[in-house]
Amino acid sequence: MAYFEFINSVKICSGAHALENIVYELDFLGSKKPLILSDNGVKNAGVLDKVTTILSKNGIPTDNIFTDIPADSDVSVINSIAGAFRQSGCDGIIACGGGSVIDTAKGVRLVLSQQGKDILGLMGNEIIKKGAHIPFIVLPTTCGTGSECTAVAVIKNHETGIKMEYISSELLPDTAIIDVRLTETLPKKLIASSAMDALVHSIEAFSSKQKNPISDAYATTAMRLITTNLPVVLENPTTEARENLALASTLAGIAFSNAMVGVVHAIGHALGGECGVPHGNAMAVLLPKCMKFNLDTNRTEYGEMLLYLAGAEKFASTPKDKRAEASIEFVINFERKIHELSGLALTLHEYGVTEDKFQNVAKKALNDGAVIANRKDVTEADVLDILKQCL
Ligand SMILES: [Fe+2]
Repeated sequence: MAYFEFINSVKICSGAHALENIVYELDFLGSKKPLILSDNGVKNAGVLDKVTTILSKNGIPTDNIFTDIPADSDVSVINSIAGAFRQSGCDGIIACGGGSVIDTAKGVRLVLSQQGKDILGLMGNEIIKKGAHIPFIVLPTTCGTGSECTAVAVIKNHETGIKMEYISSELLPDTAIIDVRLTETLPKKLIASSAMDALVHSIEAFSSKQKNPISDAYATTAMRLITTNLPVVLENPTTEARENLALASTLAGIAFSNAMVGVVHAIGHALGGECGVPHGNAMAVLLPKCMKFNLDTNRTEYGEMLLYLAGAEKFASTPKDKRAEASIEFVINFERKIHELSGLALTLHEYGVTEDKFQNVAKKALNDGAVIANRKDVTEADVLDILKQCL
């Protein structure tokens, strides 16, 4: 077996009454005065109140709240929050939000623990060492990024338009609290796009150059939970299906944090930076075309995957040499169904992307770190071809 490393040091609190556990977790981690990071969408939907009510009832101060976090986590916002944290006398961080809020909080915590001033000065794995411990609890309000359990933060430098990927175990939170009371106001389209992001995390992790037996266990469980529960959550939601979907997102996050992602994410990051296509939406559009592109190198994994995507009956009734194609076919049909249930668009055209942007998107995609773990080599012509198919 080839050498591999696997880390997930995050304590996961999931299921009934998970949210109430935040009081114990703060006490355990030694935080009496947390800085609470969120965004105005989460605040206005009343989701943040569910957290602050529990904190207040238990005598934990809630007057240090920052909600002006943009849709893409931003270098200057991170630096200014880190400065404010030092002034405030806070002793821990709570992040309550989606991927951008969580990645912003990871950036702030990294600046603080590395005793730096500027997140731009912390680029490059070799610079980051084991730093000071700042208690850090994450409460995801979407079910897709898996960011609560990843050693990755995507931070945008709005001056250059480039999304930078920070990768370090120092980015892992102490605790992730997965409670569906925080996701119940999500619109269907957002549930669909974020769950498709999680599905791509699991598929890319399972077929990447860095896959390993432990990440495979997380990835395959995530696939099964997403394909069986996402349609239920969109059509006739039950608490159990919503809990399963939220947990799947966390599991897929753990898988890709260790096994990395691939060409779907490389192109998706570039489409986000260049054309503003939201991440999960780009993932849904790109996934089937990129699976077809990767078929010759990923045939074995795509074949194995059919069991977790489509279930035992479909797997057993499909000849071994047809299973890889059947997995791609399943993904295409699954996405059609999700489109019917949620209205999630499945072409780039519907997000206002035009062909004149393709050259820049392709260049950025090939410079994206995600392309490194894609088993098949990717050229500019390959990316242009995939993009044309997605238009
Ligand atoms: Fe993603």
